[in-house]
Amino acid sequence: MQVLVTGGAGFIGSHLVERLIDLGYSVTILDDLSTGNLTNLERVISNPKLRFVEGSVTDELMVDPLVKEADAVIHLAAAVGVKLVMDQTLRSFQTNVRGTEVVVEAACRTNTKVLLASTSEVYGKNSSGIFSEDSDFVYGPTSVARWTYALSKAADEVLAHYYCKEFGLPTVIFRLFNTVGPRQSGDFGMVLPRLVKQALTGIPLTVFGDGSQRRCFCHVDDTVAAILSMLDSSACVGEAFNVGAITEISIIDAARMIIEMTSSTSPIVLVPYEEAYGPGFEDIPRRVPNISKLASFTGWAPTKTLEDVMHSVVDCVLADMMA
Ligand SMILES: NC(=O)c1ccc[n+]([C@@H]2O[C@H](COP(=O)([O-])OP(=O)(O)OC[C@H]3O[C@@H](n4cnc5c(N)ncnc54)[C@H](O)[C@@H]3O)[C@@H](O)[C@H]2O)c1
Repeated sequence: MQVLVTGGAGFIGSHLVERLIDLGYSVTILDDLSTGNLTNLERVISNPKLRFVEGSVTDELMVDPLVKEADAVIHLAAAVGVKLVMDQTLRSFQTNVRGTEVVVEAACRTNTKVLLASTSEVYGKNSSGIFSEDSDFVYGPTSVARWTYALSKAADEVLAHYYCKEFGLPTVIFRLFNTVGPRQSGDFGMVLPRLVKQALTGIPLTVFGDGSQRRCFCHVDDTVAAILSMLDSSACVGEAFNVGAITEISIIDAARMIIEMTSSTSPIVLVPYEEAYGPGFEDIPRRVPNISKLASFTGWAPTKTLEDVMHSVVDCVLADMMA
């Protein structure tokens, strides 16, 4: 089976590609290397079952033939991370929406299954805290850049959902909650690698807001297992699924845990959101996935504990710093 992975040189993509190759799939990656990196693919790049193509998912002429020769597409390529999206708002929005439209249109010509990476951000500022797939999406105005990542991914979902409904294209949407693990970069606003790097370099750990915001961190190996379970399942077609861990921790407690695990002497410094992201930034106080739907469709459940996840991030930031 031939799988096209867009964004396959990125953090999640590179782990997914490794696993697909190990399982015997032939894989083509399309990636423009904007936030991804060929070193992420070191372990598999010379494997004859892998082909790497450098280019953009917004380029129809490039996407079309790659989709045509694939049995399934896993579409991960996107402008990712709050910081990147706040800094390059229009470009990020266009990459996400146009890129998905190009991929889905190409897939429709050959009726190729598409798995679309969406995000827990689509729930916006819905204050329920625990999100099921049918929870409401609640956003601020379109003029506030903070919501544009969520809006772009919601638009991607609309494309996937209605190409399925109106043209019968087999699509599956997965909404990733925070995923962490080796190779995740802290450079684009990802919280855990950034805090670990600060702890290991002995500088203050900068926690945005008052640090009471609560999150769940899923290990990338568990995320990859979830994606593979959907790739194999015909029952998942036409559906959207939450994918994430369910153990919650506040960001300030995560910072404390990191200090303890790294024996760091760094202090924790609270940074107001407006200083970190500009005026009017709103964070989400609590974000926890209800993952029972995917469990009931494929039997998937996360296997790693919060401690496993934290150790993995510390180990990989440490390894990066030594390299
Ligand atoms: N990591 C998380 O916690 C998380 C949470 C929610 C959703 N997601 C989603 O998962 C997917 C993968 O995210 P990630 O964390 O691995 O981020 P990442 O930045 O490491 O991966 C994205 C990849 O897409 C590539 N890319 C970007 N624009 C492209 C374009 N126009 N054409 C081709 N390639 C392009 C990048 O170079 C990179 O390799 C994204 O769709 C993201 O929105 C991730």
